[in-house]
Amino acid sequence: MKEKMESLRQRFSKEVENAKNSEAVEKLRVAYLGKKGEVTELLKGLKEVSGDQKKELGQHINQLKRQVEEHLAQKLSQITAMEEQALIDSAEQYDVTLPTAIQSGSYHPVTIIQRQLEEIFASMGFVVEDFKEIVTDYECFEAVNIPKDHPARDMQDTYYLDNGQLLKTHTSAAQNHILRKYGAPCRAIFPGRCFRNEATDASHETTFFQMEGIMVDRNISISNLIYFMKTMLSEVFERDVKVRLRPGFFPFVEPGFELDINCLICGGEGCSTCHHSGWVELCPCGMIHPNVLKEGGIDPEKYTGFAFGLGLTRLVMMKYGVKDIRDLNSGNLKALSQFRHE
Ligand code: DAH
Repeated sequence: MKEKMESLRQRFSKEVENAKNSEAVEKLRVAYLGKKGEVTELLKGLKEVSGDQKKELGQHINQLKRQVEEHLAQKLSQITAMEEQALIDSAEQYDVTLPTAIQSGSYHPVTIIQRQLEEIFASMGFVVEDFKEIVTDYECFEAVNIPKDHPARDMQDTYYLDNGQLLKTHTSAAQNHILRKYGAPCRAIFPGRCFRNEATDASHETTFFQMEGIMVDRNISISNLIYFMKTMLSEVFERDVKVRLRPGFFPFVEPGFELDINCLICGGEGCSTCHHSGWVELCPCGMIHPNVLKEGGIDPEKYTGFAFGLGLTRLVMMKYGVKDIRDLNSGNLKALSQFRHE
């Protein structure tokens, strides 16, 4: 029996060595280890052996089996590596020195404006923060003074996950996190993608971008708010921009405002873009509500602050004259690759 095993071992070794591809290895596996394979047959033959001999022989056959298995696995990995290399070698080669027909890439207009704003605010001492897209009800609403049954929620229907979390409807959802992270004083902007359940049309999309900003310190007033907004907008539009504040209601600010800029198309004379008013609504803002400061761990008796929620997508549309918001998410490269970073 032992001799039989030894000759089997030697024959197997030779055959494995000669195997040229993975199919040949598989054939060997079947021939030796398959249901009717030679090693399997040896194991079956143990039934007829008795007593001590059976134990000893069993150990030998099992050892042989293991060797065969290992050998096959080794060979297979060797062959697979060779086959892969052969595929790579035979693939069509490309010439790296040839001029490419592919047009170079360009940034999305929202990215261009976002980066420009980040630079402007960073130069005024603001940190730039990032935030999640999936948030909790607390972050999106309750922490910014919008309790469960508040009617302001009606305007911000969104997409909910089974676990109660939701896609953030506004960048204000990050306010609490930022206030807790930095405490007072702090200056931060946090751009982000927002989502709402909207019937889409030329000026409404289910996905859009905002850029939120907050500044908290001692004695911050509306004058500070106006100064920062005016400076930022003049930089973006590369000319002096006039701004005005109108009262506006947002639960997280008190007082709250709509900030308008003088129409850049007609210079304030009145045209169809500004509905002949000379002004265009651009950025809601206000003085941070004491409840929001408190919720963020800041004492509203000592500190005040302003906040704004700039419609980044809207700003892009105004700056570049994009008439349909849907173009921005369309993936239409003809439309989107026209914008270049100066
Ligand atoms: N989060 C508001 C919205 O999306 C916009 C907003 C208004 C943000 C006033 C602010 C603010 O920070 O002060 O409708």
